[in-house]
Amino acid sequence: MDSKKFYQKLDRVLGIPTLPVVAFKVNKMLQDYDISINELTKTIEKDQAIVSKILRLVNSAFYGFQSKIETVSHAVIVLGFNTVRNAVLSVSVIKAFSGKDSFEGFDIKDFWRHSVGVATVGRHLAGQTRLDNPDDCFIAGLLHDIGKVILSEYFKESFGQVWASVRDDGLSFYEAEKNLLPLNHAQIGGHLAAKWQLPLSLVDTIRYHHAVREGVSNLNQLMIVHVADIIVNTHNVDSGTACDFSNIYPKAAKIMRPQLETVSDWFPPVATEIESACELLLKPELSY
Ligand SMILES: [Fe+2]
Ligand SMILES: [Fe+2]
Repeated sequence: MDSKKFYQKLDRVLGIPTLPVVAFKVNKMLQDYDISINELTKTIEKDQAIVSKILRLVNSAFYGFQSKIETVSHAVIVLGFNTVRNAVLSVSVIKAFSGKDSFEGFDIKDFWRHSVGVATVGRHLAGQTRLDNPDDCFIAGLLHDIGKVILSEYFKESFGQVWASVRDDGLSFYEAEKNLLPLNHAQIGGHLAAKWQLPLSLVDTIRYHHAVREGVSNLNQLMIVHVADIIVNTHNVDSGTACDFSNIYPKAAKIMRPQLETVSDWFPPVATEIESACELLLKPELSY
């Protein structure tokens, strides 16, 4: 299959509405500067399942508010439009891609654990470096590998070849894809995000997280997610081994040198945050 055929098949399978209507509408509404809290609240409240999940999320330690947030409009006032949009997107996408029909051997729970890890480390890096909004980096980290789920669900044969090469040749998923497929999971994920009309910064971050380039809509966000991904993939707190950061885009390594040099100090507390974020976002009883 060449890349044109691959994209054609991709467009066919992505015709299936995977993003819940409410998440899609909320995302669209937030691209409009004139939107009122009332309109946004009403749209979210059309999906009561999303409402209960959002309220659990905003009342958790994750956002760290002392007083209880009881309604969606209160959440919007306290957290802001952008954060609420990201919260709606997070719960919707995890739900939409719970991987009921994915490739055997590909553990969707491990996939989301990795994604929540990159999201949490990305949020931490953004807070430390002030290079981008931490909350935007969280959602970008959460979605960065979404193309892998598309591959595992709709391109099983291709996914199987890549999976076998990872296992047999000791390659990374991305390297194996480069050898075997006309498109990689980053391009597929970027294509999906563009179809969903997500913000351009998110589309670019997903699309280029393995191949950072200048001229994207938010280079800082892209570099943060790129670095967070490598940290999560290489940092093994228990083994005490040094991390291999040789694959980091040089400009990102330079800007984030203080964070990279101290990673073994700050990673353990962030790992605890990853655990609680997983508890919160991935527990089946909290899914709607
Ligand atoms: Fe990736
Ligand atoms: Fe990743």
